[in-house]
Amino acid sequence: MTAEATQSIGEHRRGPKRVLVLGSTGMVGRAWCELLDREGIEHRGVSRPEFDLLNRRTVCEAINPGEDLVVNAAAWTDVDGAESDPDAAMQANADSVGLLSGRCHALGATLIHYSTDYVFNGRAERPYPINAEIDPCNAYGKSKAAGEELIRHQGTPDHIIIRTSWVYAPWGKNFVRTIAKFAAEKPELRVVDDQRGRPTSAEQLAATSLALHRSGARGVWHATDGGECTWHELATLIAARVNPSCVVHPCSSEEYPRPAFRPPYSVLNIEATETLCGPMRSWQESVEDVLSRLEETK
Ligand SMILES: NC(=O)c1ccc[n+]([C@@H]2O[C@H](COP(=O)([O-])OP(=O)(O)OC[C@H]3O[C@@H](n4cnc5c(N)ncnc54)[C@H](OP(=O)(O)O)[C@@H]3O)[C@@H](O)[C@H]2O)c1
Repeated sequence: MTAEATQSIGEHRRGPKRVLVLGSTGMVGRAWCELLDREGIEHRGVSRPEFDLLNRRTVCEAINPGEDLVVNAAAWTDVDGAESDPDAAMQANADSVGLLSGRCHALGATLIHYSTDYVFNGRAERPYPINAEIDPCNAYGKSKAAGEELIRHQGTPDHIIIRTSWVYAPWGKNFVRTIAKFAAEKPELRVVDDQRGRPTSAEQLAATSLALHRSGARGVWHATDGGECTWHELATLIAARVNPSCVVHPCSSEEYPRPAFRPPYSVLNIEATETLCGPMRSWQESVEDVLSRLEETK
């Protein structure tokens, strides 16, 4: 399957007036709600059980008339769990997304939807351009690729699909918080050094998504932090900051078998987004920022 180039920059509304944030309890959903608070933009955040991607009725009834931007930050994000229940992952990440996109079309709302680096096979040697061949590397990736396809071909044309990767925030379940906790408690850690990607601050992602929307961008885009690294390099920076005496040893993915395949190389090409929105802050700066704030709240 090859993704056609589907980006555009058109004469769209310049800014949202009333925003619905789906999945407001998640890392990206919460970042969106906090951003909209700061921007003084009217919004409503919903999450389970009121909005459940596995309950068709709640999806059909989610959008209120007058909400002109729907941010879908809800998803089946349990990558390993998708291997044992691919049908449920497909319902949440594809069927319900198609339904939601159709509702946006009917109600005249723009849809911002998040997708993933896992729609690619992870065997490239250069950053994946937006129109690279879609070849999902696991069941979660298949469900997200199917969701993209439904939006692009059957849903609202007024959409922005944003592929991202390795998301972290000062809240929620994520690698940065987990390693910060372990590094503070343990003298040594082992972290895989044969998977390369781009960490993404949920807060920078939300701000970039709003900037894309305001600039009139539509279609598929990539957004991550600047730079790239392995999980081991990321963990090394976190440990150095939290507890310099903790030693982080590199290891291979084979030493830590997981139910879902993890791609060795899943760096997304973000050039188009940077051209439109300006350079992305580096992962090192953004991770440092999150760690400082975690320390402050201890
Ligand atoms: N996290 C990553 O590394 C990553 C990487 C690439 C792409 N993405 C994409 O980025 C988007 C945002 O994810 P995130 O990083 O913010 O993940 P997250 O922190 O795991 O948040 C996921 C959100 O989805 C909700 N959710 C889960 N199952 C649901 C269901 N059946 N019905 C309705 N809501 C449900 C969760 O609600 P509960 O609080 O009730 O669980 C939560 O609000 C997703 O589209 C994800 O696929 C994430």
